[in-house]
Amino acid sequence: MHDLSPSDDLQRDQAHLIHSLHNQAYQQQAHVWVSGQGATLVDETGKEYLDALAGLWNVIVGHGRSELGHAAARQMGRLGYASAYAGSTNRPAIELAERMAALTYPRINRFFFTCGGAEANESAFKTARFFWKLHGKPGKTKIISRTWGYHGTTLAAMSATGLNNYWPMFEPRVPGFVQIESPYPYRFQPADVPPGDRRTPGQIAADLLEAAILREGADTVAAFIGEPVQGAGGVIVPPDDYWPRIRQICDRHQVLLIADEVITGFGRTGDWFALTRYGIEPDIMSFAKGITSGYFPLGGIGVSDAIATALDEATGSQTWMHAFTYSAHPVGCAVALANLNILEREDLLPRARGLGERLFARLKTLESHPHVGEVRGQGLLAAVELVADKHTKAEFPPEEKIGHRVHQATQERGMFTRMRGDIYNLAPCYVAHQTEIDRMVDILGVGIEAVLGK
Ligand SMILES: Cc1ncc(COP(=O)(O)O)c(C=O)c1O
Repeated sequence: MHDLSPSDDLQRDQAHLIHSLHNQAYQQQAHVWVSGQGATLVDETGKEYLDALAGLWNVIVGHGRSELGHAAARQMGRLGYASAYAGSTNRPAIELAERMAALTYPRINRFFFTCGGAEANESAFKTARFFWKLHGKPGKTKIISRTWGYHGTTLAAMSATGLNNYWPMFEPRVPGFVQIESPYPYRFQPADVPPGDRRTPGQIAADLLEAAILREGADTVAAFIGEPVQGAGGVIVPPDDYWPRIRQICDRHQVLLIADEVITGFGRTGDWFALTRYGIEPDIMSFAKGITSGYFPLGGIGVSDAIATALDEATGSQTWMHAFTYSAHPVGCAVALANLNILEREDLLPRARGLGERLFARLKTLESHPHVGEVRGQGLLAAVELVADKHTKAEFPPEEKIGHRVHQATQERGMFTRMRGDIYNLAPCYVAHQTEIDRMVDILGVGIEAVLGK
């Protein structure tokens, strides 16, 4: 661990910066990150850390890609900014939208770009409401989401977010946001299931959506939003029959399906976009993070052809009055194009799949530890859930701060990530070496033993 006495940088930081999830106590031991290469981050003391989460799940092509900097510099030299409000456009944005149409689901061919994931989800919610108003159903405004879902922290995105520690100091939440239980295979306890019910847990979890739609009234529900694999909530991989049934339920009740692919997009789960595995398509998808590997803030939504037609036909007072100054930023779009070039040129999706298999197989060996409740994952996305009692799945008392202490122990051994409580999340970059993947697992194993014994 680096010297805990605050360095000059940290004193200046504490004097003038407010951080995401601001916590002044954590800030006293903050890392001042100064450089990175591949899967490695370096802090101001010169100590190297394996970046087990690729930044915040986003640095998919790895750190130190000067090619992305060159793409930004070239575009800044030519045109650093121009409006993309109706009546204006720019070439990198046009090309990026064209590329995205080829990469995403067949029915998603039109794109609106934002600066990140929360803005993307806000855009998705507003577009869902807009669509139903245009179709003569102005009452369809509610958004249904899930516990353990993370959709960002702007007010509506926070209201859809199902991590309840994000709410208390900012309530009331936006009205019209409704939550159902996550399909969480490790912990989902189907309630009210009649004897002899032959549905699988995945089907029962999906049917919670139908029950919520019927309870609220289908004529009041605009959309359901979910991450194909829930990320920040602890890498929750749904049963295989969950998403196809969700799609059917949405269709049956005329509820739009929004796939939040902010983490799962761009190969993280093995496919370019994560619902492909389940053979279904969303009506709206939100994306961010991996589109630029985090080198420039960019996100957005893609919409189905039916929604695109509605957008094209709306005029006058029905116009889609939604906008960001930095939407379709030419520099962001140029960086995204260069990032997609890297992913394709270096064939990084198959590489990520291979690394994911290795990571998962190695992590599985940790399950022999008495406090490793579950190892789960999909693609190059995984989590290790620590529990007080493996048989009852009882959690540790929060005041024991087990997750925090395990994270500390892995930091001391040269690895950095983010936890959700006692769940250790891993989402390395796609260019990590196999030896680095193995080291991540070794460090985690030793870190768990250091805190919880053998
Ligand atoms: C699934 C998901 N949606 C939305 C967001 C919010 O994105 P941003 O932080 O860019 O607003 C995140 C961020 O982690 C995310 O993981």
